Amino acid sequence: MSLFIKKPLAQLLAQAGDSDKGLKRTLGAANLVALGIGAIIGAGLFVRTAAAAGEAAGPAVVVSFIIAAVGCAFAGLCYAEFASMIPIAGSAYTYAYATMGELVAWVIGWALVLEYALGAATVSIAWSEYLNNLLGGAIPYSLSHSPFEHLVTRLVNGKETLVSTTELLAGDAVVSAGIVNLPALLILTILTLVLIKGTQESASLNAVIVFVKVAIVLIFIAIGWSFINPENYTPFIIPEGTPGHDTFREFGWGGVLGGAGIVFFAFIGFDAVSTAAQEAKNPKRDMPIGILGSLVVCTILYVLFSRVLTGIANWEEFKTVGKEASVAYAIQTYMPGYEWLATLISVAILAGFSSVILVMLLGQSRVFYSMSNDGLLPKVFAVLHPSYRTPYKSNLILLVFVGLFAGFIPGSMAGDLTSIGTLFAFVLVCVGVWIMRVKNPELPRAFKTPLVPLVPILGIVVCSAMIVSLDPYTILVAAVWMVIGLVVYFGYSKDRSNLRTGKK
Ligand code: ALA
Repeated sequence: MSLFIKKPLAQLLAQAGDSDKGLKRTLGAANLVALGIGAIIGAGLFVRTAAAAGEAAGPAVVVSFIIAAVGCAFAGLCYAEFASMIPIAGSAYTYAYATMGELVAWVIGWALVLEYALGAATVSIAWSEYLNNLLGGAIPYSLSHSPFEHLVTRLVNGKETLVSTTELLAGDAVVSAGIVNLPALLILTILTLVLIKGTQESASLNAVIVFVKVAIVLIFIAIGWSFINPENYTPFIIPEGTPGHDTFREFGWGGVLGGAGIVFFAFIGFDAVSTAAQEAKNPKRDMPIGILGSLVVCTILYVLFSRVLTGIANWEEFKTVGKEASVAYAIQTYMPGYEWLATLISVAILAGFSSVILVMLLGQSRVFYSMSNDGLLPKVFAVLHPSYRTPYKSNLILLVFVGLFAGFIPGSMAGDLTSIGTLFAFVLVCVGVWIMRVKNPELPRAFKTPLVPLVPILGIVVCSAMIVSLDPYTILVAAVWMVIGLVVYFGYSKDRSNLRTGKK
């Protein structure tokens, strides 16, 4: 039987009809935009903006945000078409199963593990940074960092400076070495238990968190604006020859693209809007507004935020002292009298990160749940708790898997892996929309991606460019992950697929 066997659309829509009973079409465009913003703003903004400025783009990180947003907009338009064609609470995995067949669906599902599971790990590592900052650095370095990280004293501009680094340089004096990131494990464990218990984030709690996140960003922009030192903007892009910036993605315009790959993480989550297609009042009009509207709002906030952050502190500091909990650092160092703001921001950030982690863990267990129900993964991933009715075994297995990354690898690597997995899924979604237009032009589509194939092609180009701009070592790790996925598919899943064995 073909590797490209497809789940019949009618079957999917019938399933949607079954599970649809309880879902009401209550969400308007504004709700969808809020939903998107709730899932989007997180570690990408509050941690990776500084990382992108320090490692690759300098103050031009604002341009990096715009490039990443453009890539997301193209992919978002393609997502919207799929979401309106197959309006069930699914993900790219489900779209692909119906349209491009089992193998592609498997590949996307496997890539989504990078997005959701490693996304959760990345945000939990960021959570750990901000918690430690809030506690005044009370958690020992060794217990809040992975074994790949070291705390060293290094000469920076002639001054002995404490630097947390993954790359030891000659002359560094090691003060401490990471062992395990315990706070990251702690927050993952708490949120996994919350998920198992099935506590639904109520709409109002979600709304409060969205409000707090946006308010914090706006307050920082408004107050921080008057503390900008224009000298920090020169040079705008990192000049060639800057020590430590040797490859094409670490200086100049290549660095700006590299920065886009890094801050792309900040946009992950807008695809969550597409999963609410079943609950939208008028999906045809509101899904694209929800997806693109949340992207536009976030892009504006991100550009202003990154402009202020790189104006208050110099981008070079984000390589060294200001690397961790960068926003709190910038306020504490350059905005005298506003220490309260740093505390407030840190508390809000911890709450905001928690909701992002929750959504990611939830998304991951849902993808595994679907894959398991389709027979592609062991049944254990679909076993429901007798009283809570949640896939608790899957949640616990995930806790171990995500915990290994959160506890033992650096945030930058987890973040890049997340971005690569997501970008790869985006590329496949763009390809899928195009293929479907050619092969099944007759299928009803409530929303149509404009200018096909131009928009999908641009999505493929921009997202692929962001993948190649990331660290080659991380790309290799992601490629190894995908190869493992193929081995699992051909060694296990293919022969157990319900669609092939005729079980469903
Ligand atoms: N976009 C989400 C974040 O930045 C994943 O945390």
